[in-house]
Amino acid sequence: GKVRAPTHIISTISDDRGEEPCYAGVPMSTIVERGFGVGDVISLLWFKRSLPRYCTQFIEICIMLCADHGPCVSGAHNTIVTARAGKDLVSSLVSGLLTIGPRFGGAIDDAARYFKDAYDRGLTPYEFVEGMKKKGIRVPGIGHRIKRGDNKDKRVQLLQEYAHNHFPSVKYMEYAVQVETYTLSKANNLVMNVDGAIGSLFLDLLAGSGMFSKQEIDEIVEIGYLNGLFVLARSIGLIGHTFDQKRLKQPLYRHPWEDVLYTK
Ligand code: ACO
Ligand code: LMR
Repeated sequence: GKVRAPTHIISTISDDRGEEPCYAGVPMSTIVERGFGVGDVISLLWFKRSLPRYCTQFIEICIMLCADHGPCVSGAHNTIVTARAGKDLVSSLVSGLLTIGPRFGGAIDDAARYFKDAYDRGLTPYEFVEGMKKKGIRVPGIGHRIKRGDNKDKRVQLLQEYAHNHFPSVKYMEYAVQVETYTLSKANNLVMNVDGAIGSLFLDLLAGSGMFSKQEIDEIVEIGYLNGLFVLARSIGLIGHTFDQKRLKQPLYRHPWEDVLYTK
């Protein structure tokens, strides 16, 4: 009989062997003919299913809102310095991407993990926040360098408004808002940031869409898919900053002495 040679790789998201590539079983021609957008492609390649339009639109809004936040943030700054050092596009891009992490843009998964755990265990915002303080962990998704209680992040408001109008349930978002109300009573800088908004709202998307089992939601949160949204989105801006510096023919960057505290 036939002997199946053992394979070294298993892949379940795409297939390029036929006449046209397929994403999660959907042929490229269907993707084009049906006018799918980048949110649909993310649904297929990350979540291995077609999600309803309100979900794919939410994904696209996340990407548009997180594409850039000016030249001063960690990622753009690194990219600009690298481009000005004469490095190529990929080097400039990854140098910016490498700043994405627990403090900057990469707190979405942890925000989803902690908000989900606290909500599912029925913790009050007080119990949750004070519990985190006791453990010496900053609440992911809370806090911003320039946004304040009286100058909230417009991106957070836009995401929340969209979810209010389109999601069947926003229970995790409402919980995150209660957490923010409590943290703001402690300090004016402890606003919900865009990572916290996406983390909590994605929990609502996963739970409310009826497209994912409880086990699948746990797996998505545990593996940590959601920082991918920020990485993908911010790549758009970082590529833009690279082109901008090259177009402007900016020289090698050197930080001014006056801006360094030289001390022993
Ligand atoms: N939970 C609890 N306390 C906090 C938090 C938080 N999330 N954020 C700030 N604080 C407290 C700090 O303990 C500190 O108090 P202390 O000096 O008494 O220790 C004070 O607030 C510092 O405030 P800032 O100077 O305004 O903030 P900082 O620059 O230190 O931090 C940051 C900003 C990194 C965003 C912070 O709020 C944080 O770590 N948040 C959690 C991670 C996160 O959500 N990051 C994503 C940010 S959004 C984005 O990057 C797209
Ligand atoms: C961002 O989107 O880059 C930010 O929220 C971080 C910042 O400091 O503005």
